[in-house]
Formats: sequence, C-alpha cells, structure tokens
Amino acid sequence: NWTMAGFRDMEIARIRQQVGSGRVICGLSGGVDSSVAAVLIHEAIGDQLTCIFVDPGILRAGEAEEVVKTFRGRFNIKLIHRDASDLFLSALEGVTDPEVKRKTIGRLFVEVFEEEAAKLGGADFLAQGTLYPDVIESVSFTGGPSVTIKSHHNVGGLPERMKMQLVEPLRELFKDEVRELGRELGLPEAIVGRHPFPGPGLAIRIPGAIDRDKLALLRQVDTVFLEEIRGAGLYDAIWQAFAVLLPVRTVGVMGDGRTYDYACALRAVTSTDGMTADVYPFDIGFLNRVASRIVNEVRGINRVTYDITSKPPGTIEWE
Ligand code: XMP
Repeated sequence: NWTMAGFRDMEIARIRQQVGSGRVICGLSGGVDSSVAAVLIHEAIGDQLTCIFVDPGILRAGEAEEVVKTFRGRFNIKLIHRDASDLFLSALEGVTDPEVKRKTIGRLFVEVFEEEAAKLGGADFLAQGTLYPDVIESVSFTGGPSVTIKSHHNVGGLPERMKMQLVEPLRELFKDEVRELGRELGLPEAIVGRHPFPGPGLAIRIPGAIDRDKLALLRQVDTVFLEEIRGAGLYDAIWQAFAVLLPVRTVGVMGDGRTYDYACALRAVTSTDGMTADVYPFDIGFLNRVASRIVNEVRGINRVTYDITSKPPGTIEWE
C-alpha cells in the first residue's frame, strides 16, 4: 500500500541514483512546489544541492526574508539569495502592457538565474518542482485551444538553454500530494499551505505601470487583507486571496477633510485547479472590517472594492 513516507524514501533513492556525485542547482521561488522539491533533494544529496533564490522585488511583504530564514536557517540548505529588485524594477519602469510585463519578468528570471549558476561554475543537474498537471499540460492553463490569454513564465526556456539534465521529483504528484509530502518532510505549514502566487508577482496586481511607491502601498493592503483572513480562520478555505492596487484615484472624506487617493480591489476565490474559479462569499461584516482597517491604516488608499467576478469570464489575476 502506497504511503507518502514510502514515496519520499523511494524518491530519495531515485535522486541519489540519478545524481551520483554530481552537483544540482534548484531555483527557489518561495512557493510550495520548488520548496518541497528543494527539501526533498536536500534530504537525498545534502550539500551537492545549491538553491538559487532570485528576489525580483515584486514579492509580498516579508516573503524574501522568510524564504532565506527557512532554507538557510531551518534546513541548512546552501542558498544563494540574489536581490535583483533594482534590475527588475528598472526594466519594468513605464511598462503598462500586461504581456510585456510578463515577458520582461520571465526573461529576467532566466538571465539572473543563469548568471548566478555561472558564478557557481555551473552544475550537472537542474532541479524543478514540476507537477503532474504541468507535465500533461505544459503550456498556459488559461488559454483556449490556440489563444494565449496570459503567457506564464515559470522556467520554460531554462532547461534547453542550460543543457543540464533535469531532476523533477514531483512530476507524478498533484498539488495536494505535494503539500502532504512537504508536511512529511517537516516544511512549515506557512509554506506548505500557502496559496499559489504567480511568477510575475505583484507586478500583475498593479494594472499599468508599477513603481516602488505603488508596490509599497499594495504590500500594506495585501498584508491587512491576509491578516484578517487568517484571523478569521478562512485562509485554508480559499484558493487564493490578494489585493490589487488600482491605477485610479477617487475622492473621499476623512475627518473633516477631503482625500484624493488610490482605490484598491480585493480578490478571493475558490477553485480546485485555477482553471475556473468562484468568488469567495465573505460576509459583509468581514468585508466592512477589512475595508475600514485598510482605509484607516494604509495612507494613500481611500476606497476598497471587492471583485466578485468568476472565472470565466474573468481571470483570477487582473493582468
Ligand atoms: P489566471 O489569472 O490566468 O491565473 O486566472 C490562474 C492561476 O495561475 C496563476 N498565475 C501564474 N502562475 N506564473 C505562474 O506560475 C504566471 O505567470 C502566472 N499567471 C497567473 C494565478 O495566480 C492563478 O493561480
């Protein structure tokens, strides 16, 4: 009978056999898949593994620090932390088109990753947290048969370009199984149970051009929203929840003064695979509480809306 502990042991043996005494590099994003893959491979081959974490400057508040703390501190995994925020943010300056944003970010991830890999003197294997659904449907899961709705970056072009053999220990698993394996490996619940987060990060949650100020505003709104969701015990009932900073300023009133500040949207959906989604039915009392906290605590935001669009016809992310 199949158990996750049995799968873990079998994969560890398989990784050892595949890799031998070779060197492996693995790109960490902070998400569930790459985290579980990295910890599993580390169990198998220890210091033959080096992880590369490219921080694009478009992550949520505190996320980069958490990745570093978890992997270096808790698991003692060799980790290169490259802060590439200047590079990403200057390349994105003035870019308003969603597809150009996505492609710019995808290209930079590959470039910076290759640069860091080259500094290490290369490696024999490239590890990826590819899941079974990625294997059977290797392109965007948002598109119809022939239209690209959004180009997903992930690590598409990397393996061919880098001419390394792939180590993909999760390629037979579905998301819920990856989470179970992560727990088996002792990964903290904060990583294992984490909502999906898109590669292009907060850049696609700010329609139009992004900059550091807008990112800082969005991070504050997002933090309040997620704090309230966790506090209400709703996090695990939701597929994804996040805030969007709208490129629109509206008039409000605070005390006895006029405000003219940005509006934001909150988005929370239920889904099983991200291909379709429904709005999460918060009660209005919860939304009221979140909205008043945001307007009171985040200077620069004076209006909060809740996005109730399902997918289709909407998509989960705004860009
Ligand atoms: P959409 O917005 O297309 O999103 O309904 C469906 C799911 O995919 C995530 N998403 C991405 N994930 N790279 C990723 O790894 C991407 O470029 C990307 N774009 C969207 C989105 O967060 C949702 O879970």
